[in-house]
Amino acid sequence: MIILGINAYHANASAAIVVDGQLIAAAEEERFNRVKYAAGLPVQAVRYCLAEAGATLAQVDHFAIPRNPWARMGTKLRYALRMPKFAIERARVMARFTGIKEELAAAFEIAPEVIRGAFHRVEHHVAHLASAYFVSPFDRAAVLSVDGLGDFASAMWADGEGAKLTPHGATTFPHSLGMYYTALTQYLGFWKFGDEYKVMGLGAYGTPQYLDAFRKIVRADASMKFQLNLEYFTHQRSGPEMTWRDAGTTPVLGRLFSEQLEKLLGPARRAEEPLEQRHRDLAASMQARLEEVLLEHVAQLAARTKLKSLCLAGGVAFNCVANGKMLESTPFERIYVQPAAGDAGLAVGAAFDVEHSILGRPRKFVMEHAGWGPGFTPAQIARAVEDRIGGDGAIEVQELDEDALAETAARELADGKILGWFQGRAEWGPRALGNRSILADPRRAEMKDVLNQRIKHREMFRPFAPSILEESTGEYFERTHPSPFMTFAYRVRPEKRAAIPAPTHVDGTARLQTVSRRTNPLYWKLIRAFGDRTGVPVVVNTSFNDNEPIVCKPEEALDCFLRTRMDVLVMGNLVLRKTAVADAQVATAEAQARQRA
Ligand SMILES: [Fe+2]
Repeated sequence: MIILGINAYHANASAAIVVDGQLIAAAEEERFNRVKYAAGLPVQAVRYCLAEAGATLAQVDHFAIPRNPWARMGTKLRYALRMPKFAIERARVMARFTGIKEELAAAFEIAPEVIRGAFHRVEHHVAHLASAYFVSPFDRAAVLSVDGLGDFASAMWADGEGAKLTPHGATTFPHSLGMYYTALTQYLGFWKFGDEYKVMGLGAYGTPQYLDAFRKIVRADASMKFQLNLEYFTHQRSGPEMTWRDAGTTPVLGRLFSEQLEKLLGPARRAEEPLEQRHRDLAASMQARLEEVLLEHVAQLAARTKLKSLCLAGGVAFNCVANGKMLESTPFERIYVQPAAGDAGLAVGAAFDVEHSILGRPRKFVMEHAGWGPGFTPAQIARAVEDRIGGDGAIEVQELDEDALAETAARELADGKILGWFQGRAEWGPRALGNRSILADPRRAEMKDVLNQRIKHREMFRPFAPSILEESTGEYFERTHPSPFMTFAYRVRPEKRAAIPAPTHVDGTARLQTVSRRTNPLYWKLIRAFGDRTGVPVVVNTSFNDNEPIVCKPEEALDCFLRTRMDVLVMGNLVLRKTAVADAQVATAEAQARQRA
C-alpha cells in the first residue's frame, strides 16, 4: 500500500511517502530547487520520495492532497458575495487543484491515465492534526492545530484514540491567532514570509509593558475559539493576499493591520528604521499576549479532554517559548510536536490521514527522528569532494572511522573552530538537528558574534540554539521533557548560564535539542566526546546554510564551506580543513564582494 502526500501550490511545498504504514521519506521542495519556502507543485520532492521508496507514480495507490477547496463552503460563499476579488482568487485555487493529476503527469512525462491511484482531499487543519497525532508516540492525546489560515480555518482541536482522530471544533476566518502574530510582525517592520520567529527572539530583549493594549487585540473565548478585534486588521475586508516578489520566488503577504492598530500602539516601524527599545517592548508584549491566549486555550483543551498528552501542529506550534510554558502552566505532561509543524508537514499529515481515517488501517509508525530527506553514500560524498576541491593545496582531506571522527570533531570544536557537520539523511522540517548543521563551542560567549560575522549574517538579536545529550538535560535546564526537534525553550539553570553563554538567550532561556543515543547515535557520540573533553555535553547547533535553504547535497555543503569562513567540514567519514591558502582565497572573495557592493 503506497500513499503519496503532496502539499502543493502554496508556500512550503513538500511531499511524503508512506508504504505499508511506515513513513519512508519526506522533504520540502525548497531543499531541491534552492528557493526558500518554494511553492508550486513539488515535482523534485515527489521524485525523491518515489525513488526512496523504489516506486513509480503508476504504483502509487492513494494520493493525499492536504487542501479541500470544498471545505467550509458556506463561510466562503458569504465572503465571496461581499468580495468579488476574493471569489476570483478562490475560483483560481479550485481550478488549480482539480488539475493536479494532469500537472503531475505532465511533469513526469506520462499520460494521465497511467496514474491510477485515488486522489483524496484532506482539509488543511485535519492534515495538520494528523501530521502530529498519527506519528506521535501516544495512543490517546488531545490534538491542536493553530496557524494563520488554511481552508478558511485558523485552528482546530481534536482528540485522538488509537487510529481514530476526531475533530471537535475550529476557529474560522477571519479570526486567527497566527494572523495576529503575522500582522504584529509586519507592524514591527518584518515583512518577509516566515519572519515571525525573529520577533519571538526580539521579544526577549523587552518587557511586556504594552500588554493591556494587546489584550484588546486578541482573546480566547470559552467556546474554544480565538477572537480578533477586527478593527485592528484588514484581512477580513481584503482577504489575505499572497503575492510573489523577486521573479516569483519570494512569498509576500499583503498588509494585515489597520490604521486603528497604529492609533492603539503608535506608528508602525518601517523595515529600514532602527530597532528601538519601544519595538523590543512591543515584541515582548505581543509574545506575552500570544502566550496568555494560547495557554488559556490549551488549558481549556485539557479541561475538556481530561488528557495528559498533547500533540501540536500548525505554524504557531513553532513558538517554542509558548510550548515550553505549556508544560509549566497547563495540566499536559507530555507534548509532541512533529519537526515540520508548519505547512510542509501537511504532506505527512494528509498521507497518514488517508492511511488511518480513510483506509482504517492500524497505526504502526512513530516519528522519533527527523532524518527523512536525501542521504548520500560515502562514494557519492568522495566524488563530490574530488570534483569541488582543486589541487591548489587549499583544503586538506582526511578519512577517519566513526570514533575518530567524533573525537576529531570534538577537539576542533573545543579549540574554537566552526565546524560543518553533514551526516546521514537531510532533516524534515526547518531545523537542522545534527544532520545538516553548523556547530560551535557553547562555552565561548563570543561564538554568537563569530558565527554571525563569519557565516550566518543574521540579526544580532536572534539566538543560537544548543544541542545537549538527552541524559544531561536536567543538569543544565529547569525542565527535562524531551525536545528532539528543537520545539521547546526552557530556562537554563542559573548556575549553568556561565557554562554555556553562546546558546543562552538574553532572557536566560534556550531553544534546545535533546539528543538521544538511540535515535541519533553519531551526533550523540560527537556531543559525548565534546563533553568528555570539556565537561560540557552541549554544542551550539545552527542550520548548515548562509541565506539559502539548508544544504541538502554534498556539493551544496562544499560550496557553503568554501564560500564562508567555516574552518572544518566533517562530511560522512571525511574531515576537510582549510589551509592558509583557502583563508586567503575567502578573504580575496570577500574583499571583491565588498567592492562590488
Ligand atoms: Fe497551516
